[in-house]
Amino acid sequence: MDLTAALSLALICSLVLISTQEEGIFQEDHPEKFCAWECMTFTLMWPGAYCVGWTKIQCKIPDYVKNWTIHGLWPMVKERTCCECWPIFHSDLVELEPQLSLLWPTLINKKSNYSFWKQEWHKHGACAGCVEGMNGPTKYFQTALKLRSLYSIDGALYAAGIHPSCNTSYQYGKLHSALAPGLGDLHVMQCVQDRKNRQVLVQVKIPMYKNFTLGCQRHHPNLRQDSRKQATSPGHPCRYEEPIYYFPISRESPEHPCD
Ligand SMILES: *[C@@H]1O[C@H](CO)[C@@H](O)[C@H](O)[C@H]1NC(C)=O
Ligand SMILES: *[C@@H]1O[C@H](CO)[C@@H](O)[C@H](O)[C@H]1NC(C)=O
Ligand SMILES: *[C@@H]1O[C@H](CO)[C@@H](O)[C@H](O)[C@H]1NC(C)=O
Ligand SMILES: *[C@@H]1O[C@H](CO)[C@@H](O)[C@H](O)[C@H]1NC(C)=O
Repeated sequence: MDLTAALSLALICSLVLISTQEEGIFQEDHPEKFCAWECMTFTLMWPGAYCVGWTKIQCKIPDYVKNWTIHGLWPMVKERTCCECWPIFHSDLVELEPQLSLLWPTLINKKSNYSFWKQEWHKHGACAGCVEGMNGPTKYFQTALKLRSLYSIDGALYAAGIHPSCNTSYQYGKLHSALAPGLGDLHVMQCVQDRKNRQVLVQVKIPMYKNFTLGCQRHHPNLRQDSRKQATSPGHPCRYEEPIYYFPISRESPEHPCD
């Protein structure tokens, strides 16, 4: 870990700590613990399936969203939310906004793009701030955009002849071997079940070290929380035995693109 970055994070956190001590929010927090991580996950999602399987969330897929989009860049820390000690402002993202809107949009109706980014920064980004190249909101989002261009799932699937379709499904192995050369063997495909109980590809998680080298496999301390979270988030690791659908994007019916 870069000492200067750690010190500035500590400084920012303690400044905020002083100013918010009345609420007592940060009294328990030690900034060092946010830097104690080895692995991170870069998660990309397929807009065609993101809204499938939700029951309570209203989706809207804007016209300009046509590709795999970024869900997040997540250092694997114990805490579910990193910290609000490192503020982010909309002006931090002005120059990146055109690209972010395209590649890191929110698909939740009535939620603003910026509120999604702000939430991702507080939940995950502030912990990435310990690492060179991600030490601040602008750099963190810039890095995620760079990773998005390095890891083109659209391209890999297309090259393997895997196209979005309602009437064709694919074997797990075919998808995995299309993605492995670019994303590494340890990538994880996540699926949702639609209301006809078809298994649908929704997300791909790409594990990497904090130096951005692919790989890094450590037990995710949040796993237990993740499985409890399934009550709200319908995704699960794709099952090997079942065929996998890669649904096309439907703007008319994002929740049921293939019914
Ligand atoms: C998005 O998808 C289109 C059509 O499949 C493709 O031509 C384009 O290169 C993709 N863009 C990115 C950033 O992957
Ligand atoms: C997100 O950004 C795009 C492009 O700038 C904009 O057209 C759209 O209205 C924004 N969406 C929301 C919900 O703010
Ligand atoms: C399969 O779906 C694709 C689009 O998802 C459509 O263009 C094609 O006509 C369909 N084929 C059959 C046999 O229904
Ligand atoms: C990145 O970090 C990992 C784990 O510490 C190490 O094995 C790998 O060689 C590093 N890669 C580079 C390019 O430095």
